[in-house]
Order: sequence, then C-alpha cells, then structure tokens
Amino acid sequence: MKKWIQTHNPSGRIAYVNGRYLPHAHAAVHIEDRGLQFGDSIYEVCRVEGGILLDEQGHLDRLERSLAAIELPMPVARAALPRIMRELVRRNRLRDGLVYLQVTRGAFRRDHPMPVGATEPTLILTAHSGDPAMAATRLAQGVKIITRPDERWARRDIKTTQLLPAVLAKTAAKRAGAAEAWLVDDDGFVTEGGSTNGWIVDADGTLVTRPLSRDILPGVTRAVVLAAAREAGLAVAERKFTVAQALAAREAFLTSASGAAVPVVGIDGQPIGDGRPRPLTLRLQALYAARSGQR
Ligand code: PDD
Repeated sequence: MKKWIQTHNPSGRIAYVNGRYLPHAHAAVHIEDRGLQFGDSIYEVCRVEGGILLDEQGHLDRLERSLAAIELPMPVARAALPRIMRELVRRNRLRDGLVYLQVTRGAFRRDHPMPVGATEPTLILTAHSGDPAMAATRLAQGVKIITRPDERWARRDIKTTQLLPAVLAKTAAKRAGAAEAWLVDDDGFVTEGGSTNGWIVDADGTLVTRPLSRDILPGVTRAVVLAAAREAGLAVAERKFTVAQALAAREAFLTSASGAAVPVVGIDGQPIGDGRPRPLTLRLQALYAARSGQR
C-alpha cells in the first residue's frame, strides 16, 4: 500500500480536507475518524465532462437526504459545495473524470453511539481523471456482468460508505471477467448493481427498472434517464424484474455517474439479445448526452 500511495501522489494532485486544498500526500483525516472506524459517513460521486460537473443539483439533493437519514448535519452551507467542487476541478485541471465527496461524523474516542454535538463533521473531496476514450468504448461495446445474492443492509437508499458487500460482489465480478454484479434479493428479483442501477428492455420494448424504495439507491443518473425516456415518449415501467427476465430481455444496461446507459451484453456467461449493444440503449445514451448539454 505504501508503494501505491507513493506512486499515486503525483505532484499537482490536490484534495480538499475541511476547508483546505492540499497535495494528496498531505491530505489526511484523524485516525479516530468515525468514517474510518464505523463507516459513519455519507458520500457522493459526480461526473465531470469537459470540465463541467454533471447532475450537480441531483447529487447535492441526495447528499442532503442521506445526511438527514443518519442525523448528520451538512458540514458547510449547501451553496458552498458547488464552489468547492468547481475549485477542486480547477486546481486539478480536471477535464473528464469524477469528483468524490465524503462527509463523516468526525473524530471521537471509539464509542458506537453518535457523540451528538461533540464532533465536527469531516468533509473531504478528491478529483479523479478518467480516460474519455475508454468511457466511450464502454458505452459503444458494452460490458458483461454476473449475478450475486444481495447481502447488504436494509437501508440501501442511503449512500453510506459501508460498502463491503459491494466490494465483495464487484471483486467476484472482476475475477469472472465481468464489469459489474447485479445483486439479487431473496425472492429472485434484481435489486441493482454493486455501484449502478439496473435496467432491462422487455419483450414488448418497455424499459423496466426497479421502483424506488429502501431496497436500492435512488440513482441520480437513473432519474435523468427516466425523465429523458418519458419525454421521448418511450414506454417505461418502474417494476421489479428477475434474473430469468433479464436473461430473456431484448436489452439490458446500467446507469451511474460513471456511465449513463452502459450496455449489458452478457449476464452470467449468457448473451443478452445478440450479445451486442442494442438500439434503445444507444438511443438512451444519446438522450442522456443531449440533456447533460443543457445542465
Ligand atoms: N455508485 N446504485 C448503487 C449501489 C451505487 O453505488 C450507485 C452509484 C448507483 C448509481 O447512482 P448515480 O446514478 O447517482 O451515480 C446505484 C457510485 C458511482 C460509486 O459508488 O462509485
């Protein structure tokens, strides 16, 4: 790990920690931070394209909602966050990639109950550059996925950093040569991916995605794609689907800040459709791109 830290701190990479912009090598939090000890912490990931933050308000809305759900106050005024995110993008000369934001309950002696009023929240932001050519290839060629039992807690609508089930599922996917794991509930229905929302196009051509509840994260990209699909007059149904229905689907795809409408071309080694990205998924990519130009 030491080696990784040394090689991944190229000079010039800047993080934000509690009001300060610092080189990564000097950006640190307290060893007794509750985010580290308990996962007592909320995060957001926002896409940057051409230096512009996409769906920023949607991510800030969800941040406020997640924080409220775990009784954690906003660390700074909401209006300050877009300024901090933009400043981080500017200082890192970030054109394409992601901004990561995390709020923890702060540092305190290790004790499970919330130390109400006794800590200052920790706010950290980092910038991550991505390769736009690689992102475009993923959108054009699609990805393979696997399925795994959903072993997460019962409040998956809160974007917490307690991500061990996602780490395990996505590691299994990677080892199987796949890009994502669709998580399956006890009744055989797909909840969502380890870090994406899941969609299929059924035999009637209807776009299907699981309705919002405590079972899934309310994806910001999901909401934008849903709105774009409805505006374009496409048939949309928010309903649960099983793995068998996904395998029989005409199309399947993933949405997240890391990629809107990424085609799923295979599930558990079986091709979806003809095993190539399909027309509706590609149309949704275009609809999403057209909307993001307006934001
Ligand atoms: N993941 N579902 C889960 C479990 C997620 O972790 C995410 C996001 C999504 C998609 O949400 P959005 O469209 O708002 O990005 C759905 C982020 C990208 C991550 O953990 O890196």
